[in-house]
Amino acid sequence: MPENRQLLLRRRPSAALSQKDVEIVSNATPSLKDGQFLVKNLYASVDPTHRIWMSEDDQYLAPVDLDAPMRAMTYGVVEESKNPSFPVGAHVLGMGGIQHYYVGDPAADPGLTVAKEIEGLPNTAWLSVCSVIIGLTAWVGVNEICKPKQGETFVVSAGAGAVGSLAGQLAKLRGARVIGFVGSKEKADWIVNELGFDGAINYKTDDMLTRLKHLAPNGVDSYFDNTGGPSTEAVLRCFNNNARIALCGIISGYNTGDFALKNFQMLLHRRVNLQGFICLDHLDKYEQALAELIPLVKDKKIKYLEDIQTGIDNYPDVVNMLFEGSNKGKLMLKF
Ligand SMILES: NC(=O)c1ccc[n+]([C@@H]2O[C@H](COP(=O)([O-])OP(=O)(O)OC[C@H]3O[C@@H](n4cnc5c(N)ncnc54)[C@H](OP(=O)(O)O)[C@@H]3O)[C@@H](O)[C@H]2O)c1
Repeated sequence: MPENRQLLLRRRPSAALSQKDVEIVSNATPSLKDGQFLVKNLYASVDPTHRIWMSEDDQYLAPVDLDAPMRAMTYGVVEESKNPSFPVGAHVLGMGGIQHYYVGDPAADPGLTVAKEIEGLPNTAWLSVCSVIIGLTAWVGVNEICKPKQGETFVVSAGAGAVGSLAGQLAKLRGARVIGFVGSKEKADWIVNELGFDGAINYKTDDMLTRLKHLAPNGVDSYFDNTGGPSTEAVLRCFNNNARIALCGIISGYNTGDFALKNFQMLLHRRVNLQGFICLDHLDKYEQALAELIPLVKDKKIKYLEDIQTGIDNYPDVVNMLFEGSNKGKLMLKF
């Protein structure tokens, strides 16, 4: 059996993830029982939610156990199989974790799926624009919650990120005026000049409220929130009556545990409808979302970036890229 290298969570981080919180170990892969198959991981999705899963706080899934391999969605290839539905050579999507190999067992994990090639797209698209965590998330937040209409103003935080850049482009295709918060001039230029957003706000350098009022003179009708924090506080001051918020993420608080928000009272005064949502609750819409997204990507009406880093030893630094804003598009780890 091949040797497995696994990244174990040894300690719960109290701030940004450090090398001391994890350890790489090697051991033999177990022999297979009937119905099981051995997957060699090729790519892992590295997501802000990894930092949530490492904490002990009350959350939408169980926290990752200490001394267990770090949880992550992976794309891999079957190397050995005792399951005819997952033959040798098939590509598989699953919660394979930050480790080189895992044993797939559909009886214990019904979420394991064979990932067929998408003509014209790289296989990594299964972890980026075509994934549940990116593609479906953006699609649900825009179509089911924000529901932007022609001529309305739609704002998205982390607007150059994997989810945010997709959400902004979907809202634009629905005829909205689209404004994104970003953390650099380079990202501002990308969302305006390449993706067609109507404006960008640099939350690190701009006076956010002044700039938002300038870019959204008729007020904000819907907000796709990926960050919480000061960007959200500015948007709360600019809502029109009956605005909608798709609360997708609060990345500004994952490392610090500080989720406090000023201007909360504006939810009342502007009769705002806020809905938190988790992509895993919307799997019934995945096929519909893919049927819309894939042709848009192929026709270049939607653009996306993938940021592929290498090596599980670098996992802590790669996770921290999400919090420093140094990722350019969907962050992944190549094994
Ligand atoms: N609800 C769900 O089911 C679901 C699913 C997927 C993702 N999410 C959430 O969606 C958000 C985006 O995820 P993603 O995978 O697409 O990541 P991403 O946007 O590609 O990367 C994270 C980005 O967040 C920005 N950021 C980091 N710290 C920040 C801070 N303190 N204030 C403002 N912006 C900050 C950085 O961009 P800048 O350079 O612009 O600062 C960074 O590039 C996260 O909050 C994530 O938890 C939720």
